[in-house]
Amino acid sequence: MDRMGIGLIGCGGIARSAHLPAIAALCEHVELRATADVDAQAAEAAAAPWGAAHSTDFRAVLARPDIAAVIVATPEYLHAEQVSAAAAAGKHVLCEKPLARTLAEADRMIDACASAGVHLLIGHSRRFTRRYMEIRAAIDCGEIGAVRLLRENERRSRGRPQVWWTPAHWTGNPQISGGAPMINAVHETDLLRWFSGQEAESVQAEINVTIPENVGVIDFISLTVRFRGGATGSAEVLNNTPPGYPAFHQLDIYGTSGAIRARDHDLTGLARFTDSGTEYPAQYEMLLHSLPAYARELAELVNAIRRDRALVMPPAEARAALAITLAAIRSAHEGRAIDMGEMA
Ligand SMILES: NC(=O)c1ccc[n+]([C@@H]2O[C@H](COP(=O)([O-])OP(=O)(O)OC[C@H]3O[C@@H](n4cnc5c(N)ncnc54)[C@H](O)[C@@H]3O)[C@@H](O)[C@H]2O)c1
Repeated sequence: MDRMGIGLIGCGGIARSAHLPAIAALCEHVELRATADVDAQAAEAAAAPWGAAHSTDFRAVLARPDIAAVIVATPEYLHAEQVSAAAAAGKHVLCEKPLARTLAEADRMIDACASAGVHLLIGHSRRFTRRYMEIRAAIDCGEIGAVRLLRENERRSRGRPQVWWTPAHWTGNPQISGGAPMINAVHETDLLRWFSGQEAESVQAEINVTIPENVGVIDFISLTVRFRGGATGSAEVLNNTPPGYPAFHQLDIYGTSGAIRARDHDLTGLARFTDSGTEYPAQYEMLLHSLPAYARELAELVNAIRRDRALVMPPAEARAALAITLAAIRSAHEGRAIDMGEMA
C-alpha cells in the first residue's frame, strides 16, 4: 500500500519530541512530505531526514496534492486559522491541544472540517497512553464500580529556557497564551470527563501567577468539577517547581468498590485495589510524555482515513474539555462556580 503523505505545520518542541518520532515509528505507512515553520531553520531541520520540502508559509504545505493529512503543532492561538485552512484544502488534520482559544473558534474549526468531509483529531495524547487506556478499560469492566471521585495533579519544572517565561516566546505572552489552564489543565479536564464517563454540571477554580519573572501568564490552577452523574473531579497544575524538580504526575480514581492510582516517578506505576486483591502490572512509560502514545494517536488518524471510519475521539470530545477549562478560568476570574449551561 502507498505510504500516506503527511505535512507538518509547526516544527517546535512537541513536533520534535513527539510528532516526528511518531512519523518515524509509522514509516511503513506514512511519509513526511513537507514541513512549515515561521522559523526557517526549524522547518528545514524537521524536513531534512525525509528529504521533504520545507517552507516558512504553512499554505505551501496545504497546496501539495501528495499530502493527505497535516499535523498542526503550532501554538493554540494559530489553531483556528490553520485548521480551517487545512479543511478548505481538503486535508485531514491532527491538531495539537487545546483545540482552540474559545468555543466559537472551536465550533468554526469543527464545522469547517465536517463541511469539507475531513477528519479532525485533537492531540489529547494522554488518551493514547497505555496506562490511561488500561485504566479506562478497567473502569469499563466495572473493576472499581461507579466512579465517584477523581483527582489529576501535575507539576512541571520552571527549569525550561528562560525565554519560555518572557513575552519573547508565546508561552510567556499573556496576549496569546492561556498558560497552565490551556496548555496543561485541558488534559486534566479531558481525562476527568473521560474517566468519569459523565458530563460536567458546574466548575469552580482558582488560578494564580506565582513566578516572579512571569509577566501575567497563569502558572497555577486548581479546579473542581461537579459531574451530572454524581462524580466529583479535581485537578491541580503547577508550572513552577524548581529547576531539577522531576515532572510529577498523579492520578487517583475512587469508585464505589475500588480505586485506581497512577503516578510518575513511583516504582509501582499503576496499582489497582479491588475486592479481589491488589495488582501491580509491569512498569509503564511516563504518563506525561509517552512516545508510543503519539504514534498511536497518528495511527488513529491514518486508520480512520484508510478505513473510512469515525475517529475514536471526535472533536466534540476536545470541545467538551475546552468548555470545562474555559469555565474554570471564568470561575477563577469571577469568584464563583460556573454552571456549564452558561458556557453553551
Ligand atoms: N500533547 C501534548 O502533551 C503537548 C505537549 C506540549 C505541547 N503541546 C501543544 O503543542 C502546541 C505547540 O507547543 P510547543 O511546545 O511545540 O511550542 P513551540 O513554541 O516549541 O513550537 C511551536 C512552533 O510553531 C512555530 N510557529 C509559530 N507561528 C507559526 C506559523 N504561523 N506557521 C508555522 N509555524 C509557526 C514556531 O516557530 C515553533 O517552532 C501547543 O498547542 C501546545 O499546547 C501538546
